[in-house]
Amino acid sequence: MKKLMRFLSITFLLVSLTALLFACGGDSGTDKESSGNSSETSEPADSDGEIQKLVVGTDATYAPMEYMDDSGEIVGIDIDIVNAIAEEVGIEVEFKNIGWDPLFPAVKNGEVDFAVSSITITEEREEEFDFTDPYYTANQLILVPEDSDISSFADLKDKKVSVQINTTGHIVVKELQGETSTNIVAAETMPLAISEMINGNADASVGDNSTVNEYIKNNPNVEVTTIEDSSFEKEYYGLMVKKGNTEVVELLNEGIQKLKENGKLEEITGFKVE
Ligand code: ARG
Repeated sequence: MKKLMRFLSITFLLVSLTALLFACGGDSGTDKESSGNSSETSEPADSDGEIQKLVVGTDATYAPMEYMDDSGEIVGIDIDIVNAIAEEVGIEVEFKNIGWDPLFPAVKNGEVDFAVSSITITEEREEEFDFTDPYYTANQLILVPEDSDISSFADLKDKKVSVQINTTGHIVVKELQGETSTNIVAAETMPLAISEMINGNADASVGDNSTVNEYIKNNPNVEVTTIEDSSFEKEYYGLMVKKGNTEVVELLNEGIQKLKENGKLEEITGFKVE
């Protein structure tokens, strides 16, 4: 009797196991044929694997390009451009004010899908990030007190100069004064850099022309003036994406291309960008 019971239970076990194996095998087989690719797509995508929404990081202290309006909303020329790109390629975008220095790790670690922040495409940055095609051109501009004797970039060699930290303005001044110069006042934001100069802690400020000119426009009573210098190279802004994320770069480039072709980019920026 005992033997029969053991025989029966072992047989039952084997039958159930076989049934289970068949069930599993069958399932994975049909899976592969029907909805095979769905697991490869990333979060903000629909069932066809197409991107629906992207999170965009910025440093909203850089009027007129990206800044906070009175109601705390992130606005500016860069924001208009990204919204227009999103419309062209049919995606949603959400802006996050991350700050300038933290923006770079935020793109790297995927906290944001890409960054818009008047970011100049440079060879050094291209080693660590991917960039879209250029959508805006700029150059450095020197801001000095109206009564300053400074008249060229070379005059800044031994002067105290304020810049926004780790911007191309900071880079050109380091090239002029040396990497370890103690005459550079590197502030967290461009408005803070300009304040350092206004307060007498620096003889000049160096930053992107759009922002320096905007400062003058918004502060007509502050006695400052700008100096252009032909030694400054033309800079091209790009949207910055995590290295290797070609899907996002290609989508954004498609939008930029359309905006260049239909004239909307020129409408937003006021000039033509090749
Ligand atoms: N174009 C300069 C750079 O790429 C300055 C950009 C600063 N942008 C900002 N939103 N703070 O270094």
